[in-house]
Amino acid sequence: MHGDLQEASLAFLPRGAVVLAPLSGFGDLPFRRIARASGMQYAFAPMVDASALAIGSKRTQRIAERGEEEDWFGVQIVGADPERIARSAEWLTSLRPDVMDLNMGCPAPKVRRKGQGCAMLEHPELVGRCVRAMTQATDVPVTVKARLTPEGAAAPIIEVVQAAADSGASAATVHARTPRQRYGGPVQLDVLAEIVRASPIPVIGNGGVYSRWHYEQMMCDVRPYAVMVAGGVIGNPWLFRSLTGESPWPDGLPEKPVADAPPTLEELVGAIRSQVAETVAFYGQESGYPRTRKLIIRYLKGRGFPSTARVAASHVSSQADLDELAKILLACRPPLPRF
Ligand SMILES: Cc1cc2nc3c(=O)[nH]c(=O)nc-3n(C[C@H](O)[C@H](O)[C@H](O)COP(=O)(O)O)c2cc1C
Repeated sequence: MHGDLQEASLAFLPRGAVVLAPLSGFGDLPFRRIARASGMQYAFAPMVDASALAIGSKRTQRIAERGEEEDWFGVQIVGADPERIARSAEWLTSLRPDVMDLNMGCPAPKVRRKGQGCAMLEHPELVGRCVRAMTQATDVPVTVKARLTPEGAAAPIIEVVQAAADSGASAATVHARTPRQRYGGPVQLDVLAEIVRASPIPVIGNGGVYSRWHYEQMMCDVRPYAVMVAGGVIGNPWLFRSLTGESPWPDGLPEKPVADAPPTLEELVGAIRSQVAETVAFYGQESGYPRTRKLIIRYLKGRGFPSTARVAASHVSSQADLDELAKILLACRPPLPRF
């Protein structure tokens, strides 16, 4: 075990922090504004494609847009070409992010086919060159984000993290699932704990934190430097609220997972209204409403709402539709707890 690492502290992220993961298709500025209102402090923008950024794509630049009120902001690059990665890192530096991450975990076939995302885990030497390209192009701290390889063993990840560290990476996030698992199913916390113990740099633990119980389990069994949350926050910004303050189980974690207290109906409707308002203000009416519908549906998921509410959510195209949905929801039973 790297004993000195137990004491190591990152200048850009406090120990024990809860960080919003990069979330393509969701984690844009409107999403982060709602999450900040529930107590989120540390957040990544969704990944940006190094090739698109290198040719100045405005659409890609928009994905990384930072809000004036965002005190802490991380960006992530997906790519496997050191030259393009360096150019992207230079451009992203103009946003003054707190940290710049390299994606080595994306399992999407269109990303893997290009040798990017989780395909990079098989090539530690390439990882080293890409990280070096970033650390030479920017003075912003550089991190990497990996996931388990198909075998689910610790050794390949430790090797890749070592290569990243040798090229100047300050920390590594590790998602404790294999590529085949994509974003769901059981997480291998024992493997993650092994990686944490052997890593030469601090590890941010990721995967399956859907409630306070899961967070406590991760902190206790894995002992990561910090924790990253993703799917558990989509349609559920209240997760951040439940992850602050003292542990509700000072005498030990209950054996079975416990769901967080649900939001009230009024909180849920209020958050949906704010989310829609922020999204429409950011993208305009025409693309704002379609973008926000999939997120509204995620707010309702697993909360016990009737199908009439879900159907109304899938048709929200105007303020009047939103008012109608709010009316339906406020006449429903209170939301159920969910994972
Ligand atoms: C909709 C969605 C979009 C994602 N986008 C990204 C991304 O842009 N970059 C990245 O590194 N991981 C991305 N991920 C993976 C998450 O960051 C995270 O590693 C994974 O979901 C595991 O965390 P969880 O169990 O808390 O959801 C995405 C996941 C989801 C569900």
